[in-house]
Amino acid sequence: METEGRPINVLGIETSCDETAAAVVAEGREVKSSVVASQTKLHEKYGGVVPEVASRAHIEKIYPVVSEAMERAGVGEREIDAVAVANQPGLTIALVVGVTAAKALSLMWGKPLIAINHLHAHLQSAMLAEERLELPAVALIVSGGHTCLYDCESPLELELMGRTIDDAAGEAFDKVAMILGLAYPGGPSIEMAAAKGDPKAIDFARTMLGRDSLDFSFSGLKTAVLYYCRGQDMKGEDRVASMSEQEIADVAASFQAAAIDVLVRKTERAAGRIGARTVLLGGGVAANSVLRDRLREMCDSAEPARRLLVAPKQYCTDNAVMVASLGYFKYKAGLFADLTLEPKASG
Ligand code: KG4
Ligand code: ZN
Repeated sequence: METEGRPINVLGIETSCDETAAAVVAEGREVKSSVVASQTKLHEKYGGVVPEVASRAHIEKIYPVVSEAMERAGVGEREIDAVAVANQPGLTIALVVGVTAAKALSLMWGKPLIAINHLHAHLQSAMLAEERLELPAVALIVSGGHTCLYDCESPLELELMGRTIDDAAGEAFDKVAMILGLAYPGGPSIEMAAAKGDPKAIDFARTMLGRDSLDFSFSGLKTAVLYYCRGQDMKGEDRVASMSEQEIADVAASFQAAAIDVLVRKTERAAGRIGARTVLLGGGVAANSVLRDRLREMCDSAEPARRLLVAPKQYCTDNAVMVASLGYFKYKAGLFADLTLEPKASG
C-alpha cells in the first residue's frame, strides 16, 4: 500500500437507511467530498421509510454517487487507499447495496475493505475536528433507529452504557409529527413548530425508568401525545383537525421539551457515573438546536465544566463522511474486513 508521502484517502459508502452517500476523507479529518442522495421525496407519501423502495433507489444511485464523490474530491482509484462501508446496523436490504458495491470496488481496485458500524460512525462525526479526546468521555447517539449512551475511550473503543428499550428518540419525533399532521421527516418539522409553541403548555410525563437506569423509553411519551390528541379511549374525534396552529405548536413544544429533558438528564447521569470530562453528541436528532443548547447548559453548569463536542449540523443526519473518517482510524489500526463481509440488521 504505497502512498508516496501523500495523505491517506478513504472512500466511505453509506446506505443503511434512506440516504445513498459517498465521501472521500483524507487523514480521517479533511473532507475532500461528500455526496448525499436523499430519498425523502420517495418515502414522503408513506410517512416513513419503505425498505424495498429504499433498496431499489440505492441500487440506482450507488455508482453515480460514488463517481461524483471521487470526481469532486479530484481523486482516481490510485489515490484511494481503502474502501470503508457501513455494514450494520440498518435495513438489511438497504445495507447490502453499499456492502456489495464496496466489496466490488475493493476487489477491482485491490484496496482494503473496512467494515463500519453506522452508530459508531455517527459518534465519529462529533470527533471530526478533534485530535485528542479528554477522557473519560460519554457519548449520546440519537437517531431515527437508535438511542444509545456510550463510554467512549477512542473512536474505536466504545462501551454501551444504555439504550432505548422501545422507540428511538428520532422515531418518537417522526411518529408525533405524524400524529400532529406535520411534514415528513418529523424531526425538523417538530423543531420548527415547537419554536412557536410553549414547552410548558402540557406536562407530558418524563419516563426515567428508575433512579439508576441509563436506558431510555419513548413509547409512553408518544402514546401520551396520541391520547392527548384523540382521547384516552382513542374513540374521541381526532382533535388535531380542529386545533389551531398555536395549539399544535404547543403540543410539539411540550413533546420536544419532555423528550429532550430525558435525553439530557440521562446523559448527565451517565457523565456523573464515569466522571466524564467530555460529552459527545451525534446522530440525526443531534441536529436539533434545543437539544444542542440544553446539553451545552448541562456541560457548562457541571463542576468542573465538561467539554461538549457536537457533530456539525450537516454531518448529524446520515452521510458518508463519518464512515470514511472512522474508516481511517480502522485503516491505521489494520482492522480490515474481507469479501465475506455481510450486512447485519442489528449492531
Ligand atoms: O441519523 P439519521 O439520519 O438516521 C438514522 O440513522 O436513523 O437520523 C434520522 C432521524 C429522524 O428520525 C429525524 O426525524 C431525526 O433524525 N431528526 C431530527 C432533526 N433532524 C433530524 N430530530 C429532531 N430535531 C431535528 N432537527
Ligand atoms: Zn444514522
